[in-house]
Amino acid sequence: MSHSAPDALRIRDMRVRILPDARAVSLAAAEEIEAVIREANAARGRAVLGLATGSTPEGVYARLVERHSAGELSFRDVTTYNLDEYYPISPADPRSYRAYMHRHLLGRVDIAPNRAHLLDGSVPESAVAEYCAAFDRWIESDGGLDLQLLGIGRNGHIGFNEPCGLSVAEASRLRTRRVELHPVTRADAVREFGSAEAVIPAALTLGVATILAARSILILATGAHKAEAVAAALAGPMTAEVPASLLQSVAPRVAWMLDRGAAGALPDAPAAGPPIV
Ligand code: F6R
Repeated sequence: MSHSAPDALRIRDMRVRILPDARAVSLAAAEEIEAVIREANAARGRAVLGLATGSTPEGVYARLVERHSAGELSFRDVTTYNLDEYYPISPADPRSYRAYMHRHLLGRVDIAPNRAHLLDGSVPESAVAEYCAAFDRWIESDGGLDLQLLGIGRNGHIGFNEPCGLSVAEASRLRTRRVELHPVTRADAVREFGSAEAVIPAALTLGVATILAARSILILATGAHKAEAVAAALAGPMTAEVPASLLQSVAPRVAWMLDRGAAGALPDAPAAGPPIV
């Protein structure tokens, strides 16, 4: 990843870029993803990306689609794995993350359908554990993730690895599995589901261990509502109560891209003033 941007700092050995707004974060993240695709394609003839959903990466996908439509970027040699999916949910449900990915990226670029992997929210309960273990094995058999794209929850979650009382060592060993969603996550999901009662309270998620194994991790946060979680993850202690803080254990492979709002609670965040870039 680029080390020379004028807006780049290092916190706990993680690269951190603070950009003026969400649009700048989307453009910088899309540029980074494009660079990883090109480098991995040149080195190994293919790129393996771990992708996220939610509101944060929407602008990133819009930019990647724009680059594809302009004939500048191909996904022909790209394989993708998505982070998470509600459970249970039909893949055809418009609120599923499968539908989200199809709308925002997969249905709009030249990726081969059999190379876009999403956790299936319709797997029967009795098969979930084996299915999740198989998902981890597929990632490994594809050579691992060149880049894992992440957002961060207001409670510090990554994927749907929610705050929990495990030790750092235990939490860092968590693999892909079924989880119950945290109350903050359920409250935020009302946006997608329309009402608190309609929110699906469980999900399948890539595990912390699977995420930490990626060759590079790009985590995005925009908006002041993420500032506390960002500050805790970047500058607080490593703890399973703030799952994103576990990224500190692989710091040299982690890059954060924040807008000014999301950077607002960092200990030495630049105060309001002229854009840094
Ligand atoms: C989505 C995911 C979540 C989101 C996080 C932030 O696939 O894994 O961890 O990245 O909840 O969501 P937004 O971007 O909607 O604020």
